[in-house]
Parts: sequence; C-alpha cells; structure tokens
Amino acid sequence: MSRKPIIAGNWKMNLCQSEAKSLFEGICSFVSNYKATELPCVVIAPVFTSLCCVHPVSCDCGCEGYKLSVSGQNCHWESSGAYTGEISCEMLKDAGCSYCIIGHSERRQYFSETDEMINKKAKACLSCGLTPIICCGESLEQRESGVTDEWISSQIRAALSGISSEDVSRCVIAYEPIWAIGTGKSCDAEEANRVCAMIRKVVSECSGQSAADSIRILYGGSVKPSTIEEQMSKSDIDGALIGGASLKADSFNEIIEKTMKTCSCCV
Ligand code: 13P
Repeated sequence: MSRKPIIAGNWKMNLCQSEAKSLFEGICSFVSNYKATELPCVVIAPVFTSLCCVHPVSCDCGCEGYKLSVSGQNCHWESSGAYTGEISCEMLKDAGCSYCIIGHSERRQYFSETDEMINKKAKACLSCGLTPIICCGESLEQRESGVTDEWISSQIRAALSGISSEDVSRCVIAYEPIWAIGTGKSCDAEEANRVCAMIRKVVSECSGQSAADSIRILYGGSVKPSTIEEQMSKSDIDGALIGGASLKADSFNEIIEKTMKTCSCCV
C-alpha cells in the first residue's frame, strides 16, 4: 500500500525570527521547483515565536496539495484558559499549523509528560483538525535490557486509547530511539524498520488493519542526507522526523531530494 512520505523538521528550541525566516526561505526556494504531487509532505516545526515568520505553501498547479506545511512542537489539550505558558491546538491552527508533534522524548524527560497527557493531546489535535505526530522510543538502558518492543507497544496503545480507527488512520507516529537523538548514531535501518513494523502491528491490533495500512510511521534519530536513502528504502518507514539536519536548508533540502528519488509514491 502506498503512503505518501513525510519529511518533517523539528527545529526544537533553535532559531530566532530572522534565522527562522531565512531557513524557511531556503526551503521554499527548493520546493518551488516541484509540484506538491512530486514532493513528500514537507513539514517544519519552528518555535512558537517564529510561527509568524513561516507559512504553509500551497501548490500552484491546481492539485490543492501543499508543498510545505507547518507544525507545532507541543500543545495543550484544553482550548483556552488559565494554563500559563501553554498553547492550544486552536491557537496553532490559527497560526497556520496543520500538524503538531506530541510526546517527544525531550518533553517526556524534561517536562514529565505522561502517556495519559499525550493521549489527551492526540485527541485535542484530532478534534480540531491538526495531525498529531506522536513520538515514541526507548532509552539505551531499555534497549540493552531487551524491553524495547514491550515499552514502545505500551506507549502506542496508551497514546491511541479511545481514538476511533478513522482518526487513528490520520495520525502520524514517529519512532525515535532516545539513544539515537542528537548523537550522530542513527539506528540501523533494518532494525528501525523492524520496530516500525512492530508499531504497525500494534496499530492493527488496537485500531484494525485499515488504520494500520494508512498510518504513517516515521523514523527519527540522527537522520542525515547520508542515511535517508537506506531508511526510505524500507517497507515500514514512511518518512523522517529530523532535528539537527533540519536546521540548515542545504541538508534538509538534500534529504527531501533523496526521498523523492527513493520513493515511487512521490512521483
Ligand atoms: P536529531 O535528528 O538531531 O537526532 O533529532 C531527532 C529528533 O529528536 C527529532 O524530533
């Protein structure tokens, strides 16, 4: 089954407005050479204060597709209220977002996000029309003690709990082994694909085969132009969530270009 790949750049807590604007322009000038039907879904996730410096880029060929979409890096599940420092899904939509990253390991680790909170965030995203990019992944300790599959499967079951199969098929999951994030040590593509296939099986058990066939599962963790082709050649990897290499237009654009060469579903 063909799933349109997603290449998403998580800018994390980097780039002030002028820097965000110039990176956005560098990506725009690259994607402007193609039609949306030729490109993977290209997504950028700047910090909240730079959302005003970027915008979604629609295709000009009449296909109604987007050449570039914008994502939040986090959201709250309530739509408004006394939650100092938080941002709602409605506010992200209002600022031009159509995606939101949720449950990133950095948020789980440094901001004590729980599976229950991530489930509420996923539901809030879906009910206001944002596509949640739900992150999961194991630590080195968990991998070494042999509990990777069990851990990830419990993260996925909790994140998708109470969500209809139809909505699950609209979600995106990002498998990001914690030990591969920012270390330069990408997970072996064969192993990343094995875990992504295991995640798809868990989705089929919770939400049915059709949702499992449609949901896009990304790999994240030290993705670079030199790793993307092998990663994208794997059957269960539908794209990448990229940190460091998304902060420079040259490397991010090269990843997009190599994805286009690898995936027949972009053509
Ligand atoms: P790096 O690509 O820098 O390893 O970051 C991955 C990541 O955490 C994306 O969300």
